[in-house]
Amino acid sequence: MEKKRIIDEKSKDEQLEMFREDPEREFLTTNQGVRISNTDISLKAGERGPTLLEDFHLREKITHFDHERIPERIVHARGSGAHGYFQVYEPMTEYTSAKFLQNPDKKTPVFVRFSTVVGFRGSADTVRDIRGFAVKFYTEEGNYDLVGNNIPVFFIQDAIKFPDFVHAAKPEQDNQMPQAATAHDTFWDFVACHPETVHTIMWLMSDRAIPRSYRMMQGFGVNTYRFVNSKGKGRFIKFHWRPILGIHSLVWDEAQKISGKDPDFHRRDLWEAIEMGDYPEYEFGVQIIEEEDEFKFDFDILDPTKIWPEEEVPVKIIGKMTLNRNPDNFFAETEQVAFCVSNVVPGIDFSNDPLLQGRLFSYLDTQLIRLGGPNFQEIPINRPLVPISNNQREGYHRMTINKGKTSYFPNSVGENLPRPAIAEEGGYVNYTEKVEGKKIRERSEKFKDFFSQAKLFWNSMSEPEKEHIIKAFHFEVGKVMDPEIRKAVVDEFNNVDGDLAIEIAKGVDVPVPEQKGGSKVMKESPNVSQERTEHTAKNSIKSRKIAILAADGYDYKELSQVMQALKGSGANADIISKYRGMLKSSSGEKLEVNKNYLTAASVMYDGVYIPGGKESIKTLKMQGDAIHFVHEAFRHCKPLGATGEGIELFKVANLPDIIFAERKSADKVISDKGVVTVMRIESSSFNDSFIAALAKHRHWGREKKEQVPA
Ligand code: HEM
Repeated sequence: MEKKRIIDEKSKDEQLEMFREDPEREFLTTNQGVRISNTDISLKAGERGPTLLEDFHLREKITHFDHERIPERIVHARGSGAHGYFQVYEPMTEYTSAKFLQNPDKKTPVFVRFSTVVGFRGSADTVRDIRGFAVKFYTEEGNYDLVGNNIPVFFIQDAIKFPDFVHAAKPEQDNQMPQAATAHDTFWDFVACHPETVHTIMWLMSDRAIPRSYRMMQGFGVNTYRFVNSKGKGRFIKFHWRPILGIHSLVWDEAQKISGKDPDFHRRDLWEAIEMGDYPEYEFGVQIIEEEDEFKFDFDILDPTKIWPEEEVPVKIIGKMTLNRNPDNFFAETEQVAFCVSNVVPGIDFSNDPLLQGRLFSYLDTQLIRLGGPNFQEIPINRPLVPISNNQREGYHRMTINKGKTSYFPNSVGENLPRPAIAEEGGYVNYTEKVEGKKIRERSEKFKDFFSQAKLFWNSMSEPEKEHIIKAFHFEVGKVMDPEIRKAVVDEFNNVDGDLAIEIAKGVDVPVPEQKGGSKVMKESPNVSQERTEHTAKNSIKSRKIAILAADGYDYKELSQVMQALKGSGANADIISKYRGMLKSSSGEKLEVNKNYLTAASVMYDGVYIPGGKESIKTLKMQGDAIHFVHEAFRHCKPLGATGEGIELFKVANLPDIIFAERKSADKVISDKGVVTVMRIESSSFNDSFIAALAKHRHWGREKKEQVPA
């Protein structure tokens, strides 16, 4: 009889426990379990003699080491993982029979891996790139993998182009440069040769490609899938993840600096947030299109280079995912996890999206080589929580000991088991879709509209977002050596928006197009804008990081009041000074310094606060590092706060075009373009104003920020 087990939030953790190894064992042993008496000096013929081949411990130790590396993923090599659970809000019975989407009381374990696409395994986190957002649901009907990205569209329409696209994006063939960057000739040559890329390129040039945190970015299934209910009725769907903390990004200068100061910025952020109990949360949503509406839209719903604008097809929020546990071992879990688009459960099926169809082949195929054979589903992180029973046998690293004689079906020797299950028994029945057509290499007419949605995206951006996109083009295309490619890119984007093309041309030494072009689309879709969408939470500073600059003689009352308020709102503050150690306040209290100017930088923080205290400010005013810290935060449009004498540091920093609080109205809080100051903190609402400024994330209205030397 089939063994039934109840799956809950803890099930995967419990299953992994069977494979965990306790580091607190007393003795070193060989892989055969033999205790080792010496692991530092190899067996030699005499003190100065040659090493002996018979030293089995030496050979085993070195051989294992020699074989420690496995191939990195061909794309998405750099990633970070986390465990958690998923809970549906309401039964989705009308739409899908998937069991993990029925019971709001049920918590389904998940493992998530976030990644960049282009860079190698050791590359920096904050490069300009799409982020992978892959979720493995360990459901009661087997594993379901939703392998998505943080940008809802893809560069190409057909999987057959994927190797060309990735070859063009990766470091160039002759010199293997640049690393983890698309700012080079072959990438932009590919773009110029493929107008189908322009919509995704618009997203890639936008702030979406430099997220502040994995915890603050959206996720999208990108491809069109199907929900199928128990009556066999199918509907087209697209999947969405929305971060509860809102969607926030870095600025490009900041992202580049972080790549040097802390290349693990996103990995660290995710790890630390989970360690501190700030569990990342994402709501899960679906867009649903009825089969009879398949052709009602001005785009083809099977085209992965198109969104379904939320204004036309609303996102129905159906559940939430919480990430609450870090992996125990990076290699065993995050590196060896194998996501596969074809891992689906009953109730979820595919569409004829030509990119998806190719993906269905690629993942399993690549994992056969990356993980060394057909038994990688036995690796603990990949095991489902339900039993596996089939007639697949043998191959490298087979761990299951299958008992019995038979490994074929049907059979009479083994009671004809295991046997296929019918739908009522949980068997996966493929959606019955009528398909007719000639065998051709063609794409549908609407696939060939490459520019309308790129223009829709451009129309939907706020002014600061447009400015960032233009600058991103200047950086990326500006690094292209071949003038013909730069010109071809400008001409290509002239098909999207004439003004955009002119702006790009200005920055990359290309004549403006002879004829101003552009798509005629006037529509907007505010939800594609991070600034304009209602999905960007701007009322919370939970888990944000604030830098507090101080020196001996700081004002204890001011600092502790602000710190308390920040903590009360869920933010984390670091005290930064010239040296680590203890700081003494003007009234004698001591405070630990968390970081010095070498181990911290403004780019690692969401905002800066300067408390008063005559002596402290006198010291800070003489420290170029402190002034640079303020300059850089100002230039990156981050919220800044100062109280009492702290304001003097801002004045010395010469923050342009900013009004500060004054002594004559000491209790009055001044909040100007995200710079919040007050002379006397006691009865003021400084904390509220500073927290509100932090929650806004960035203050783009600092028009004279370019004058600041940072
Ligand atoms: C034809 C198009 C595509 C092909 C052939 C393809 C192929 C691959 C391959 C071979 C890997 C490495 C997997 C591994 O070694 O385990 C990979 C990883 C990945 N792909 Fe794709 N991909 C395609 C498009 C996409 C799209 C459209 C998305 C987003 C919806 C996507 C999201 C991901 C993610 C998130 C990973 C990393 C999974 C992980 O964290 O382990 N890919 N892809």
